[in-house]
Amino acid sequence: MTPIKKVINDKKTNINPIWIMRQAGRYLPEFRELRKKNPDFIKLCLNKELSSKITLQPLKRFDLDAAIIFSDILMLPYGLGQKVEFKKNFGPLLGKLNLNEISKLDEVDFVNNIYQVYETLKLVSSNDIVKNKDTIGFVGAPWTLLVYMINKQSPKLNLIDSFFSDEILIKEVLNILDKFLKIHIKQQIVNGAQVIQIFDSWAGLLKENDFSKYIYNPTLSLVEFTKSLNVPVICFPRGIKNYKNYCEIIKPDAICIDYEVDPLVIRKEIKIPVQGGMDPKILLTNKENIKKEAKKYLDIFKDHPYIFNLGHGVLPETEPGMMEYLVNFVKEY
Ligand code: CP3
Repeated sequence: MTPIKKVINDKKTNINPIWIMRQAGRYLPEFRELRKKNPDFIKLCLNKELSSKITLQPLKRFDLDAAIIFSDILMLPYGLGQKVEFKKNFGPLLGKLNLNEISKLDEVDFVNNIYQVYETLKLVSSNDIVKNKDTIGFVGAPWTLLVYMINKQSPKLNLIDSFFSDEILIKEVLNILDKFLKIHIKQQIVNGAQVIQIFDSWAGLLKENDFSKYIYNPTLSLVEFTKSLNVPVICFPRGIKNYKNYCEIIKPDAICIDYEVDPLVIRKEIKIPVQGGMDPKILLTNKENIKKEAKKYLDIFKDHPYIFNLGHGVLPETEPGMMEYLVNFVKEY
């Protein structure tokens, strides 16, 4: 059994598997070099040779326990026909949301629009480098995708004022997301994903009152669907205050925590396997500090099933040598 499954399925506490969110990305010079020659990010995600190569880049350097497929949560709106662009020093920019067009789309059209992502999964999961490691597939949570599809860009601090004004639109988009996210999850699994992570990067924007409608109900539907396919599912509701409620309602197989939450509280309140937590900014400091912080998480979760990761993606300014130090420290601890 792979290390991550040992933690999630068997609740093993004597191993500390490690993988890192955004482990394939801009902090690696070999990624930046490829990226420079491929200015269109979406095209890069749709190039199975290049995206599988990028997926495997960090595994060639570091002793990581999983590969996370190089793609993006916004490939879903792209597959639905909404325009998605990544502008330099700005982030994603989405085009008009045309519900009429989207409602005409069926499963075959959607899969046709992004089938290359599934081919990347096939290539990665059959590569020798990932033998005895997991290939992780992922989706954006319905709430976070709704944010991008309506807001059209990262909300930074706030959503656009009119965000909640069209309730019918929101309801319709959530229905569409439920349908196509399940197709997207299933296709990733059929093509080799052994674990699914659901990223809810903007969960922290909502008030607790709105959680049932936008976070709990729609995410629960995906978690139950993934479990029904016998694949473990990890949820990452970044920025929420009450991880205990979230876990009790949604019951993911593991919970990924962000860097703002107190790991001691999590240790006390959460019964399921835990992943992540360490602040990515620590990797910008020095080795002593990295060791101290990593040790803190490993010690707190010593008798708890725990997968090492950061509390958000690795920052582009990170020196690869610091990542190497972290991975080796965790593996040898
Ligand atoms: O290594 C991995 O983790 C796998 C690949 C991956 C990417 N995006 C590649 C990427 C994953 C899992 C994601 C998820 C994703 N994408 C999330 C959820 C996680 C999170 O960060 O909160 C979100 C919100 C997105 C949307 C997105 N994609 C944004 C906001 C941006 C721009 C911001 C940034 O970091 O530049 C992206 C672009 C993106 N996705 C990059 C990468 C490597 C940078 C692309 C570049 O080279 O310019």
